[in-house]
Amino acid sequence: MLVLGIESSCDETAAAVVEDGRRALSDVVSSQVAVHARYGGVVPEVASRQHLLSIVPVVEQALQKAEVTMDHIDAVAVTHGPGLVGALMVGVNAAKAIAYARKLPLIGVHHLEAHAYAAWLAYDDPGRDPGFPLVILIASGAHTDLIVMRGHGDYQLVGRTRDDASGEAFDKAARILGLGFPGGPAIQKSAGQRRGEKPMPRAWLHDSLDFSFSGLKTHLLHEAQARGIYPPGDAPADAEAVAQLAGAFQEAVVDVLATKAVQAVERHGARGLVLGGGVSANARLREECARRSPVPVLIPAPRLCTDNGSMVGAAGYYRYMRGIAHGASLDAAPSLAIA
Ligand SMILES: Nc1ncnc2c1ncn2[C@@H]1O[C@H](COP(=O)(O)OP(=O)(O)OP(=O)(O)O)[C@@H](O)[C@H]1O
Ligand SMILES: [Mg+2]
Repeated sequence: MLVLGIESSCDETAAAVVEDGRRALSDVVSSQVAVHARYGGVVPEVASRQHLLSIVPVVEQALQKAEVTMDHIDAVAVTHGPGLVGALMVGVNAAKAIAYARKLPLIGVHHLEAHAYAAWLAYDDPGRDPGFPLVILIASGAHTDLIVMRGHGDYQLVGRTRDDASGEAFDKAARILGLGFPGGPAIQKSAGQRRGEKPMPRAWLHDSLDFSFSGLKTHLLHEAQARGIYPPGDAPADAEAVAQLAGAFQEAVVDVLATKAVQAVERHGARGLVLGGGVSANARLREECARRSPVPVLIPAPRLCTDNGSMVGAAGYYRYMRGIAHGASLDAAPSLAIA
């Protein structure tokens, strides 16, 4: 079964053709990063306009690269929330139009569920699946959630951020350190092998599986001010001092994410740990989760961690297999909850 997956919830316009939920025949992503970089973050109005320009060529390319035509497609899956409402609407309306014109089933997909399903694409041998329950750590630009997945479509949210998302924290930290946008890759690059001379505080929140990153961000701001890194002056900042702060910041975020993910695995008797979302592209997070987890860790390739269409196609396939299909009433749902 071939599913066309469409994603437009934030700043990537993406489409892919996915076979049986596990194999991407194509995966086309048109990133708007360069357009938003000059503003230091994603500007919603600009994002919607870019999606409008890109959506048709991106879908056409996805079909071409998969060497199929619309005649071969069995269903259309689209992210309908959560995300930026104007951005979501572009993908949802494109998917609706295709489904209506081709008389295909239309499946709305939750964006975080899609991030989780990137693991099904990355590990496409069903014989080696660890089995349920799984703990899913979604660490992305707008979310940091721990989810227990007891089966396809069966989710329980067991931890979430109480303030900033981890990706948002990386982005803000990079801005403080003058490292540019998006912040995660910039912090990782600046830190290199450094873990920081002075450790930064971790918000453990007692034995809760929730997260908090805003205190860490404020701590970084004070350290950057004390070293004359922030606000930026006329002379360039001392690159080694910046790298030390980047390293200490990265370690603090990674330590909290990995510790709580492993705690969730232990508390809920999970048979595997799945990482998803842009922050799971972070090399130190991947390393620490793999090192500390008592169960197999499934981490998609960095390219599949950030937004893409194939994860939507995969999640859509498993929804369809459970008999879920939406009609023309499918709408963008900017605050859609997963559980
Ligand atoms: N190597 C990295 N280390 C840390 N963070 C990273 C890395 N690569 C990307 N990120 C972060 O990932 C985030 C983008 O991830 P993603 O595209 O999944 O988020 P989003 O789609 O904007 O948000 P959401 O999925 O919550 O709606 C950014 O905040 C970026 O800084
Ligand atoms: Mg995302």
